[in-house]
Amino acid sequence: MNLRIPQKKRFQGIVQVPGDKSISHRALMIGAIADGVSEIQSCSRAADPMSTLSCVQQLGIHVEDRGKYFLLHGTGRRGFLPSSAPLDAGNSGTTMRLLSGILVGQNFPSVVTGDSSLCQRPMKRIIEPLRQMGAKIHGTDKCTAPLSIEPVGQLNAIHYTLPIPSAQVKSAILFAGLFTDSITTVIENSKTRDHTERMLGLRSDMINGCNIVTVHPDMKIEGKKFFVPGDMSAAAFFLSAGMIVPGSLLTIQHVGLNPTRRRILDIFKAMGGNIQIENEQMIEGEPIGDLVVHYSELKSNLDLRGAEVVDLIDEIPILSVTALFAEGTLSIHDARELRAKETDRIDAIVKNLRLLGCEVEEYDDGFSFEGKKNYAGAVIPSYGDHRIAMAFGIAGLIIPDITIENIECADISFPGFWENLLSSPE
Ligand code: S3P
Repeated sequence: MNLRIPQKKRFQGIVQVPGDKSISHRALMIGAIADGVSEIQSCSRAADPMSTLSCVQQLGIHVEDRGKYFLLHGTGRRGFLPSSAPLDAGNSGTTMRLLSGILVGQNFPSVVTGDSSLCQRPMKRIIEPLRQMGAKIHGTDKCTAPLSIEPVGQLNAIHYTLPIPSAQVKSAILFAGLFTDSITTVIENSKTRDHTERMLGLRSDMINGCNIVTVHPDMKIEGKKFFVPGDMSAAAFFLSAGMIVPGSLLTIQHVGLNPTRRRILDIFKAMGGNIQIENEQMIEGEPIGDLVVHYSELKSNLDLRGAEVVDLIDEIPILSVTALFAEGTLSIHDARELRAKETDRIDAIVKNLRLLGCEVEEYDDGFSFEGKKNYAGAVIPSYGDHRIAMAFGIAGLIIPDITIENIECADISFPGFWENLLSSPE
């Protein structure tokens, strides 16, 4: 379905965002391998975490849907049952990569597959370290899914330095580390989101600028209560809407403020964004708060590289759209990883910005442009990528005649996004 976005005069009210996608995946997987029952409060019901849910169900985990929470009857880390059918990760890289780290430790074979986008995404990044641990895992000739996994008994512990910053790869190795005979260490030069460490209670130390995470195979994983905070990456769309639509005042409730996820707040504030954090508190090991955003006169002189880009990786589409309405330039480098997301996001952002009449320079690892120009409406392809669709949907609040193609893909991370966008009280 395509949607022509109506322009907004002002944007006011309270917005609820879905539970954090990264934390929801992990809660479902950790709950599944735990001994005993786990209660997962405010889990995201977006398509991606629901792919994880159906995979763990296929592996024999009994899940009770109690409306506000799921009850997961964990069977212990070696208690899964084999699935006769391939496990379908849908569009979700997190499902495929993290679950593979658990499946390589099981005593039965598995196949993990996904949709056409996921089956083109790079899996060598998990295949290589998991093989170093002794796992039997194979992809296609191009090292893509479907992935076939054979049982090997016990895995070997490794000390692995991530060649690219990736929380998915880190987490896959940490999960596989539960099935070894010794301590596994993952070393990252740029610290990525640390939800797996927090949720499993793993040790992590910053030494000479490197983040070193260790997992011990004898650690106990007991069923427990998980609380999933609102997703900062989803909140970013409404932070942007609140800042760019004149007269707006929005409150986004219960948003996760984990230091590895909140960089977008600092960047929006550096652009002059009028955003306050209220009701800050810690719940089940993760900081959360309400975000209050007012319309803001934005200025952008941003040259983003390195660790900053790692922290912002999922927010670059909406940051780019926001910078369209800011005085000054946005320049992004070191973001080659964006080319390996649900679509090539550098290509998608650059092409869509150009469709709106923006002059953009594209690099292998990023792009740059100057904002606050005259833009024209256009029909914007979403490339089946949720974050591209939603980001350019926000541009349609200001630029007349923007139509977004295939809006359904927003359901991957944010069911109800378009309803929220269209129906919020003025
Ligand atoms: C995620 C890690 C990031 C991020 C993705 C979710 C996670 O991917 O882009 O949306 O939950 O671990 P990479 O590990 O590929 O950087």
